[in-house]
Amino acid sequence: LVHATQALLAKISSDPVKVEDFKELAKLALPKMYYDFYAGGAEDEHTLRDNIQAFQRITIRPRVLVDVSQIDTSTTILGYPISSPILVAPTAAHKLAFHEGELATARAAAAAKTIMVLSYSSSFSIEEVASSCNAVRFFQLYIFKRRNVSRQLLERAERYGYKAIVLTVDTPRLGRRENDIRNKMIAVPEKNLEGLVTIDVIPDQGSKFETFANKTLDDSMRWEDIQWLRSITTLPILIKGILTHEDATKAVEAGVDGIIVSNHGARQLDFAPATVTVLEEVVHAVKGKVPVLLDGGVRRGTDVFKALALGAQAVLIGRPVLYGLAAKGEEGVRTVLEMLKNELETSMALSGCPSIKDITRSHVRTHYDKL
Ligand code: FNR
Repeated sequence: LVHATQALLAKISSDPVKVEDFKELAKLALPKMYYDFYAGGAEDEHTLRDNIQAFQRITIRPRVLVDVSQIDTSTTILGYPISSPILVAPTAAHKLAFHEGELATARAAAAAKTIMVLSYSSSFSIEEVASSCNAVRFFQLYIFKRRNVSRQLLERAERYGYKAIVLTVDTPRLGRRENDIRNKMIAVPEKNLEGLVTIDVIPDQGSKFETFANKTLDDSMRWEDIQWLRSITTLPILIKGILTHEDATKAVEAGVDGIIVSNHGARQLDFAPATVTVLEEVVHAVKGKVPVLLDGGVRRGTDVFKALALGAQAVLIGRPVLYGLAAKGEEGVRTVLEMLKNELETSMALSGCPSIKDITRSHVRTHYDKL
């Protein structure tokens, strides 16, 4: 026990050197209820583990004797330049991690020259986050039973200069997150349902968060409804939560401008596939018509490299941002983004890929490749 405590103390007092170090710092910094809310997945958390492990099953095929004296990790997404193909995924309630919440995250993303997707369940409003700093930002939307709520959120996002809508489609109801049920974690909308919900968490009897979500989200939504959204906005629409080639084909037919391969950080359907295992299936179905992005389990620059080699244009990170925020506020988020970018740069140099476009399918080997 003494040794374990000493090892832990040594770790805490030293600066984090990798993204996962922030997870441990966040665990120490946060009340258990909040940490569990961020870290947890659905049911037995099989998919949660597999999101990470699936990356570990892929190996990289490095090429040598390529001039890697200049490495360029920059790229574009929907025409917007970013310093690396690593975006901030939409995640709920950043105020639970840090008092400045999404305002701090937005500033960190801007400093890292990347794009933040603001969650609809943000603890600060669309307007507050927009005025926190000058940067390209996307807005994540759900379709609500009361369509007017979605429409109004969309209009506010448009008015305040958000450049794309990320429509999350894997949440007709909330997945069973058993940590939250056990902790009696509930979230109460502070404002009203017409506006952006501010989440505040208090311990109570049931899981009101679940009731709230299940009462408001439209579980009867179908592919035809994408047309409705398409008809009320000129902003590009990225559809988030696609895991099969069948749905990827439908999404392209429905006129979306991009696809995010995602299982919601394993918080919805347990035994949904690890995202990186279905990335190629989606990429093949899409045939280059729209960009494909991926999130879920990205913790290393090599993970980003692997996703790009399998056809993703960029990745998004969810929990690492929350852990960075919990451990060190805005600076923590900036450090997380910088660490991943630096690791990606090293992976590119050691694999013989001076620029993002040099990363190809032949730079990775998956378990289903022929030897
Ligand atoms: C999420 N995610 C999410 N997605 C979304 O579309 N709207 C949301 O409000 C949220 N909220 C949310 C809260 C928390 C605490 C987590 C961890 C995740 C899912 C998120 O956008 C993304 O898909 C995953 O987080 C990616 O997986 P990693 O990077 O966390 O492994």
